[in-house]
Amino acid sequence: MAPSIKSFYALHSRNCSLVIDCRGNAPAILYWGSRLSEATSPDMLSLLATRQELQACQAQEALITLSPEAATGFMGSPGVQMHRSGRQWAIYAKTKSVNLVDNQLTIISQCHGAEIQLTHCLALHASTDVLTATTAITNIGSSALWLDRCDAPCIPLPMRYNKILGFTGRWANEFQQVSIDRFPGAYVRENRSGRTSHDSFPGVVVHTEDTNESSGSAYGLHLGWSGNHQLRIEEQHTGQAYAQLGELFFPGEMSLEPGEKYCSPTLYGTSTAHGFSAISESFHGYVRASLTDKRVRNKVRPVHFNTWEAVYFDLSYDRLCELADVAAEVGAERFVLDDGWFKNRKSDKAGLGDWFVDNTVFEDGLGPLIDHVKAKNMEFGLWVEPEMVNPDSDLYRAHSDWVLNADPAPLILSRNQLVLDLTRTEVQTYLFERLDALLTEYSISYLKWDMNRAVYQPNNQGGRAVGHYQTNALYTLLGRLRAAHPAVEIESCSSGGGRADFGVLEFTDRIWTSDSNDALDRLRIQKGFSMFFPAEVMGAHIGPGVCHITGRILSMETRAGVAMFGHMGIEANLLEMDDDQTETLKAGVALHKKHRQLIHSGNLVRLNTQSNENGFGIIAQDGGEALFSYTQLDSLSHSVGGRLQFIGLDSNGLYQVSIVWPQEPKSYSTSILDVINGSVISGEALTKAGIQLPIMHPASLLVFHLIRR
Ligand code: GLA
Repeated sequence: MAPSIKSFYALHSRNCSLVIDCRGNAPAILYWGSRLSEATSPDMLSLLATRQELQACQAQEALITLSPEAATGFMGSPGVQMHRSGRQWAIYAKTKSVNLVDNQLTIISQCHGAEIQLTHCLALHASTDVLTATTAITNIGSSALWLDRCDAPCIPLPMRYNKILGFTGRWANEFQQVSIDRFPGAYVRENRSGRTSHDSFPGVVVHTEDTNESSGSAYGLHLGWSGNHQLRIEEQHTGQAYAQLGELFFPGEMSLEPGEKYCSPTLYGTSTAHGFSAISESFHGYVRASLTDKRVRNKVRPVHFNTWEAVYFDLSYDRLCELADVAAEVGAERFVLDDGWFKNRKSDKAGLGDWFVDNTVFEDGLGPLIDHVKAKNMEFGLWVEPEMVNPDSDLYRAHSDWVLNADPAPLILSRNQLVLDLTRTEVQTYLFERLDALLTEYSISYLKWDMNRAVYQPNNQGGRAVGHYQTNALYTLLGRLRAAHPAVEIESCSSGGGRADFGVLEFTDRIWTSDSNDALDRLRIQKGFSMFFPAEVMGAHIGPGVCHITGRILSMETRAGVAMFGHMGIEANLLEMDDDQTETLKAGVALHKKHRQLIHSGNLVRLNTQSNENGFGIIAQDGGEALFSYTQLDSLSHSVGGRLQFIGLDSNGLYQVSIVWPQEPKSYSTSILDVINGSVISGEALTKAGIQLPIMHPASLLVFHLIRR
């Protein structure tokens, strides 16, 4: 240990502490959990961690360091995996320097055998408790090195964290929570889709047996990266377990020339003793404080009208103007023209790549439609899918060599499209110029940036996998456009929620959560999504009466009641709605607007509900106001409704309670619905005793508004 290096370094935030042990060869996390007082010294923690190994084992099992090393006898998955032509793979890095500035720790270590330098950066965000951590590797040798893995810092898991809550899904049903017991061996999620993916969200919650939505200990972990990744929770034979998240490379994808450096994506972590709600609270706070761009931080999120499920490709100027008229009447504040507006785009079979307005539909360009929309006091937004090209397009006919491939395998078409190689300068230039020209010519304040297929074949024309560079090239393009057009907001969409992560949120302002507008499915999707992301970035639309994805018929009350808890929008043919529907829609939008400041800034509390229920609340930061949503998903199991116990209220406070949605909840006889509105009830009673629910129909919901007196 170099003389200037201390044995331990501690970072503290509002509720958490992180202690790094630098006594050994390489740094390791000694403690990450609730904030420690001054009474506790790192030496005490270290003493308490004194271990004894079984006789036939290593005298001292290898430490789970920030980048565990095979050469030290670590039998799990090494944090950095590299070699130079098959040699110099064994890493044994020694800490060279440690710097602690502003609650951020930078630890530099070097391995002279492998000729690398590792830089671990760890920070605890003071007010939200979010841990951010990266690992960087620099080639300090004189030959190229091949990098197979360089994970973000490895997180040792407390023994008692024996439950894994993972996130899986598919198109139109993303963010499904799957709970499993930790087991000897590894829980591994790998994603090779070239985007964040629908099925393998790079996030996980590891927790104790008794943790639930409102209490218990847990770590929440998320890798902020929109490309290939791997996530590993491994329980070793010692019983020790660790979590490792990092980028996944194809063979030969990553090499470093002398002097070059690779840095892992950022690992975001929360540690709590207060259940999953506290994980959401930390992540949401962090997104608001550090990822949300200041352009939109204090901007009211306008209610959208989106043309996709209203008209699909069947665009005409007159029809769009009619839709805009009704959209404005029901309260929309931004009109988003979805797919179909550009050259040759009559279906999903052609046109991608030709980012010129289709003059057969828009004779005089988009100007007249935009003027019409703006005259109705709405902003104008436009759908694009820049990374893609249809073989049936002018772009592909001119530049068929611009696509990613896996030669000699035939090109795989998915949704009739191929993926452009964004790492090519001419592709970047073409896309920037086209988008820049559109944004310069027209008054467009919003782009819905889509990506409707996975990258199955990630090679450039030279035959090298470029997944890592493709993702960075996307970030670069988004960053350039944002810099050139700072007023334009961008939504990240990938066939719904296929590109939702903190990496892309650094360059975008909203996420399209899912292509499913089925309100019941949405409740589950939004429950998973909201573990990490706050309501204001969660695109949530009121779809048609008969859901186009699931065929389910749901009332406008339910559809609006679900969508109002995100960044609300409408995506249905308004011209086909009857007056009742339109009026209810209007009221739902108005209610969202009335409370959106709270919805988009409050703390989410997740309620412990049964399998046929969904419930959550949003509580103002000062605790003075709250909205709670309760949905009965299915038919009642008993002849009397359940009891809803609120969470997170000030138990010494008095709250005036009202049911604000649906407008007129129906009841065939006297129920709580007739007596509750306007009553003043203690926070204590609302949380300890809870409210008796009325008899509710399946797929119906109630929204409660509470204001502290
Ligand atoms: C994807 C998006 C949809 C819509 C279509 C248009 O599926 O997720 O919302 O924009 O593309 O083709």
